[in-house]
Amino acid sequence: MGLNMREGYQGTGPGAITPDGCSVEHYARLAVGAEPDIIAAAVPAGAHILELGCGVGRVTHPLLARGFRVTAVDESPEMLERVRGARTICSPIEKLDLGETFDVVMLASFLVHAGDIEVRRGLLRTCARHVAEGGCVLIQREGEDYHTDLPRERVDASGCTVRIVSSEPVGDGVNSVHAEYVFPDVTWTQTFRSRPLTKEQFEEALGEAGLRVDRYLTEDRIWVRAIREE
Ligand SMILES: C[S@@+](CC[C@H](N)C(=O)[O-])C[C@H]1O[C@@H](n2cnc3c(N)ncnc32)[C@H](O)[C@@H]1O
Repeated sequence: MGLNMREGYQGTGPGAITPDGCSVEHYARLAVGAEPDIIAAAVPAGAHILELGCGVGRVTHPLLARGFRVTAVDESPEMLERVRGARTICSPIEKLDLGETFDVVMLASFLVHAGDIEVRRGLLRTCARHVAEGGCVLIQREGEDYHTDLPRERVDASGCTVRIVSSEPVGDGVNSVHAEYVFPDVTWTQTFRSRPLTKEQFEEALGEAGLRVDRYLTEDRIWVRAIREE
């Protein structure tokens, strides 16, 4: 386990583990899903995307292949080492202040559900600070049954069984979620904090950062296109 873990976050299994409990090798093996299609349908061709929490570039690489420019940010140097073809920046997202703006800022992987409200505020302020006039922020939020439809599992295209085992309240509206990622030859686990947000709470959190929903991009309302409030 890393020495610099975020409180309430941990991971087990071989290789480097990020402060939020993700395994670098696990993400290097995972296949990409519908993310690039959803993103490409919501933004102008060739846009410059600031991708926050890019990991090993699982989504970055297909976006580059489609002709987008990507600046990829993560706090894990071990994750960033695997990103190819994008400018990379190693930083906690909540502290990022590049002094430049982007056509698109992307905050995926449910990071908006950070257990610590101050971290969430920081993440959303980073989004607002870096989006260009007329640009947009793409956010991936949790599905509305993620903390109730438990345990649940699915097999990803890479052959990984992703099993969300439990989600237990730890106070102040925050849950501790335990997940297992099982390949035939290796298992990683992750425990992380998540603050469930109703649609209303999510929209209120955006508002605090000076953002508002432009439209929900998917029927399940997991992917959101937000813009700066006038
Ligand atoms: C679940 S992984 C997803 C990676 C990538 N978005 C993907 O879908 O493959 C989350 C990534 O975000 C990074 N991360 C999480 N919280 C962060 C923060 N506050 N600042 C910077 N990086 C963060 C982790 O280091 C990890 O690489």
